[in-house]
Parts: sequence; structure tokens; C-alpha cells
Amino acid sequence: MDKLIITGGVRLDGEIRISGAKNSALPILAATLLADGPVTVANLPHLHDITTMIELFGRMGIEPVIDEKLAVEIDPRTIKTLVAPYELVKTMRASILVLGPMVARFGEAEVALPGGCAIGSRPVDLHIRGLEAMGAMIEVEGGYIKAKAPEGGLRGAHFFFDTVSVTGTENIMMAAALAKGRSVLQNAAREPEVVDLANFINAMGGKVQGAGTDTITIDGVERLHSATYKVMPDRIETGTYLVAAAATGGRVKVKDTDPTILEAVLEKLKEAGAEITTGEDWIELNMHGKRPKAVNIRTAPYPAFPTDMQAQFISLNAIAEGTGAVIETIFENRFMHVYEMHRMGAHIQVEGNTAIVTGTLKLKGAPVMATDLRASASLVISALVAEGDTLIDRIYHIDRGYECIEEKLQMLGARIRRVPG
Ligand code: EPZ
Repeated sequence: MDKLIITGGVRLDGEIRISGAKNSALPILAATLLADGPVTVANLPHLHDITTMIELFGRMGIEPVIDEKLAVEIDPRTIKTLVAPYELVKTMRASILVLGPMVARFGEAEVALPGGCAIGSRPVDLHIRGLEAMGAMIEVEGGYIKAKAPEGGLRGAHFFFDTVSVTGTENIMMAAALAKGRSVLQNAAREPEVVDLANFINAMGGKVQGAGTDTITIDGVERLHSATYKVMPDRIETGTYLVAAAATGGRVKVKDTDPTILEAVLEKLKEAGAEITTGEDWIELNMHGKRPKAVNIRTAPYPAFPTDMQAQFISLNAIAEGTGAVIETIFENRFMHVYEMHRMGAHIQVEGNTAIVTGTLKLKGAPVMATDLRASASLVISALVAEGDTLIDRIYHIDRGYECIEEKLQMLGARIRRVPG
């Protein structure tokens, strides 16, 4: 397995471009199954998770065509099998996103139950209950979700999410796009990626209103036509590079992004002492060489502070002035990076869903192991500010969510290289 070697102590300084959002690209690729003709999706990030989704389509008989600008054309009419096999689903739980579109468009689907993952049990009960509310008959057996639409197809329904679920909202929204009649989703997720998906469905002729609020109304249509769509920028990749620059006391200008989709993160960076300036599609952060101040964080559904930025802020607090409390309210086991950071000399105490981080002037480079996508990003940030070399193992976690991370960090002056394992 590849490893990353990082020699800390460099103050980052430079400009980078942000890639398309992984967590928007995945539902949008799934939604292409709804169309009755070829659909082109542009600005896809070159990530392992995207490759996995395209490989899943290949296994179902759909051969995506990748053009010279790396946009992907998908024609769902060539689908041959409606089964999403376990050996692929187990590597990427977001595969569950093909369930709703397949039942809505083809009347049935067999999707492996995604297991839990490192950060939590990750149930999909809301996805199943939402489809049942629309008349789907669903059995869970042999590790597979077997779903069939009722005679005449799915029917519009009112559905209340008792927990705010991003992919749950997305799955049911996609199914509702082709259901008969009106669906109203209450306590829906408000994430920008949900809005991006709604815009894509509407670009194909769908009728989705209210995305971005907690009540989404979808009027089902007979068919969805071909379209070309560009995926929104990745707000978590954006936040990760801003935190990396802040932790090193440096400066970064991130381009091809959108400052309006990560306001909670920008507020916390300002509280940590960063000078932030923004334009329509760029954000510049400058610490002017100063050490960051510790901040308190509490994760919650959008527009509150995103759980996907929690690990990165623990790294920031680990070398900040003062003590910061970080409360994780979304997932039950999302502090595994803490135990790796202890190996680098970080002073962090975990009590239940709270991590108390007392900043220290210096961390020490050490061999550490990535455990999940955002945890691995926090280890990279800690390595950038540590004395000496840090060797990060199992970096396939990083490759799932950060396109060309070493090249982008090298452009900011970091001493980082990938060694084949
Ligand atoms: C999405 O996961 C993201 N993934 C996650 O990003 C992100 O951390 C998460 O939303 C929260 O923002 C994608 O969009 C592909 P949830 P998702 O359903 O949809 C409970 C990353 O790093 N729940 O919003 O799977 C669940 O247990 C990844 O890019 C149910 O109880 O998360 C959790 O406590 C990690 N029943 C809470 O809801 C369900 O049926 C939020 O989970 C579904 C979820």
C-alpha cells in the first residue's frame, strides 16, 4: 500500500484549484439512471470513489464514455442488470444511492446492504422506509436490499426524516422525481450537495422545489431527458486546504470554489485568527505567520459546522494557543485520528462525543495510520506542522476524497511525497 512521507515545518504559501465535490458527484452520477437518454456530467473529481461508482455502472452493463475534458457521458438505456454487488458496495457505502433511481426508473433493484464503516454503524433504515412510503415492496435478506415498485410505479408520498440524512434525502428525492404525483420530504437535509442534485434533476426536466430548506417538494414527471451538468466545487476539500494553511501560519488562495457554502468553517477560521478575503469563486486565507488560536467546535447538519471538517479542526487546535472543545454530534465513532495524533505528541482527551484539545507549540513526526477519509486529512495537516518526518500508512483512505493531494500541497510549498508500498 502506498504511503505519504511529509517533512513538517514549512509555512504553506500559494494558490490551488478546488476539484468538483465528491459528495455531489456521487448522487448526481446515481441520478443519471433516471434519464431516458445519455447524460453528461462534468467537473467530476478524479477520486477512487468516483471510479468505484463508474465501475458499478460497468457491472450493471452501462459503459460510461469519458471525453477529453474528463466529463463522463452515461446512457442508462444500456443497463443490463439491476444488481449492485456486495464486493463493490462494501468499498463505498454511497453505492446505496443507486437504489432509489433504479426502483423509480426500472421498477426494481437489488443493492447490497452497505456495512458500517470506521466512523459508525451508518444505518440505511430511512432510505428503506422512504421508498416503502412510496409503495415499494422491500425485503432485506442475504445482505441485500431487494426492492420492487408497485403496479403502476412508485407513488408520491409525504415522508418525515426522524434523523437528518444527506444520502437518505437524496435517495428519496431521486425516487420521487419519477413517482406518480407529489412527494413532500420533511426534516430533509439542507446540504449544498442536496441542492446540486435537485438542480441536476431539474436540468433533466424534473420538478424539485425547496432543496436547501428542510422541506422539499417533488412533483413526479413521466420521463427525464438528457442533460449536461457541471458538479459544484468541493466545500470540504476547500476547508481542508484552508485549515492546512492556517495550521502552518501561512497563506493560501483556493480557486474554483464558492465562499457561500462553507460559512460556518470560515467563521471558525476567523475566530482562530485567520484573515479571510473572498471573491465570487475564490477564498484567500492569511495567518501572517501567526500561531492559530484554539476554537470550540460542535458539528451539526448544514448550515451548522460540518462533521467532515471536525478532524481537520482537531489538528488545528492541537498546535493552537489555548484549549478547544470539539463535540461530534453526527457519528458515534469519529475520533480515531485522535489516537494517531497522540503518537505525534498531541494533547487531546476524549470524553464520549467530546474531544478536549490543548494546543502545544510543537508536534513530533511519527509513523501513523489513516483510518478513514477525513481522519487521514487531519494526519496530513498535523504532519505539515510536526518536527521531522511523518509516514502515513493506508492512504487509500485519502485517495477516496482528495484529488492529487501531494501535488496540490507541493504547489503550496509542502515537503510531501508518495512512496509506493
Ligand atoms: C453523508 O453521509 C456524506 N457522504 C458524509 O461524508 C457526511 O459525513 C454525512 O453525510 C454527514 O454530513 C456522502 O454524501 C456520500 P447521513 P450519509 O445519512 O448520508 C443517521 C465523507 O467524509 N442515519 O447524513 O451516509 C446516521 O447514522 C463522508 O465524505 C440513520 O440513522 O450520512 C448518522 O448518525 C463521510 N438512518 C446521521 O443519520 C439512515 O437511514 C447522519 O448520517 C441514514 C442515516
